[in-house]
This record gives sequence, structure tokens and C-alpha cells, in this order.
Amino acid sequence: MTTTSTQASPEAKIAFGIDIGGSGIKGAPVDLSTGELARPRIKIKTPRPATPQAVVDVIGQVIAGFDLAPDTPIGVAYPGVVFGGVTATAANLDESFVGADLVKLVHRATGRRIHLANDADAAGYAEVRYGAAKGVDGAVLVMTLGTGIGSALIFAGNLVPNTELGHLEIDGHDAEKRAASSAKEREDLSWRAWAARLQRYFSVVDDLVHPDLFVVGGGVSREHEKFLPLLKLRPPIIPAKLRNTAGIVGVAALAAR
Ligand code: BGC
Repeated sequence: MTTTSTQASPEAKIAFGIDIGGSGIKGAPVDLSTGELARPRIKIKTPRPATPQAVVDVIGQVIAGFDLAPDTPIGVAYPGVVFGGVTATAANLDESFVGADLVKLVHRATGRRIHLANDADAAGYAEVRYGAAKGVDGAVLVMTLGTGIGSALIFAGNLVPNTELGHLEIDGHDAEKRAASSAKEREDLSWRAWAARLQRYFSVVDDLVHPDLFVVGGGVSREHEKFLPLLKLRPPIIPAKLRNTAGIVGVAALAAR
């Protein structure tokens, strides 16, 4: 009997990641062996209204800012539910994103094939592969606190996409409206007052999912000493490591798989 051994083609070393945020659209090439940016990122203000066409134009500008080989994998992290190439929700972008075929629109505009993922899923994948949850067994829940709340559930390195735990209804409210870091700013809450809301929020999430570890990302995680020590939760809760590059790095890594 003869056996044929097939060798998996080696993964690309460089991939490109783009992160669509409420205030900026950022992109950079990523070194997949380290999870670091291979070049400084480009950031362009998110157009308003943030319609699919306006955002696609900016994605084109970000890609054109680098001299990418035609076969460089490109990932785009989107702040909402994604099904294949289609954006299905738009909590903090223009409503016309609901049902938009972003993969097709970017292909039409740039000739490039992108891989689309939810932004928190991308950030969570980056934390597990390169960051705070590297080597952790079991269920890791990465939560991003920003304009909204994003969630990524990763079990033994496998991502369960589109968990959307930021939109749990808690005490009659969409949770992210009260507990995202944008709520802290909007309502001018003290760290203590905001931590009380996070305590309620994370307790509910823990009761539902029972993760082995919480990782907290988003811009505010830079100031984690001001609020994480105030939380009393069953599983450990630790700050993200990649901070504001997590979306770019994670979606580039997902695109290269
Ligand atoms: C969206 C999520 C996203 C999160 C962070 C939420 O409003 O529904 O899909 O991950 O914001 O951007």
C-alpha cells in the first residue's frame, strides 16, 4: 500500500489587517510570526455618515497606502455581526450596512478579496494567539470596552463567532449603553461608579457562559489598574496585551488561515 503525504502549504508570513472603528479606520501589515505590526499603521477618520460605500472608499485608501503583494491575505474587522461576506448588524455605523455585501463591495472597488470578521472576534483571536490568553486552556471570553461592548468566545483556540454579549438586556437596558467605556464618558462617571456597572455586567455574563478567564480589551484597558481591581468575579479577569492593535492583528491572522 502506498501512502501519499500531503504537506500543508506554509502560512503566509505577512498579512494585512484593517479595523473599522467608530472614530477611525486603521490598517497595517502584520508579521504573523510575532503578531506585531510590520509597518506603522495608517488611520483615516471614519466617514460620516458611515455608509458602506464611504467606508469602502476609505478601505481602498488604507490598502493603497502600502505596497502589498497581490496575494497578501487581507482581513477586515467590522463592528457588528458578519455572515460570510455580509454585514448583518450596524449598532454604531450607518444602518445601510445591514445586509451589505462588504466583501463584494471591496472586491469591486479594489480588486482584492478580503476576509471579513467581527472586530471583537478578531481582537479575541489575537489575544489568544499572541497576547494575554496565549497558552490558556479552556474557555476564554475576551470583552472589548469602547463605543460598544464586543465579545469573543474562544475555546481551546477555536473561535465561536458573533456572540454579541454586549447586547444582553440587563435591568431593562441594552448592556453596552450602560457599561461600555463610552457610557463612562457620556455620563461622566467616576471609575468607581463605572466599575459598579461593570460588576453587574460581568456577573451576568459569567452566570451565562462560565468562562475560565476574562480578558478585557479596548482603549480603556490601558487604564486597567483604575477599574479591574474593583471587580470581584469568580474567574480571573486580566487586561488585554495587544490593546489598540488587536483588531488589526487578529483579522490579519484570521485572513491568513
Ligand atoms: C457590536 C459588536 C462589536 C462591538 C464592539 C457592538 O455594538 O454589536 O459587533 O463587536 O460593538 O465594536
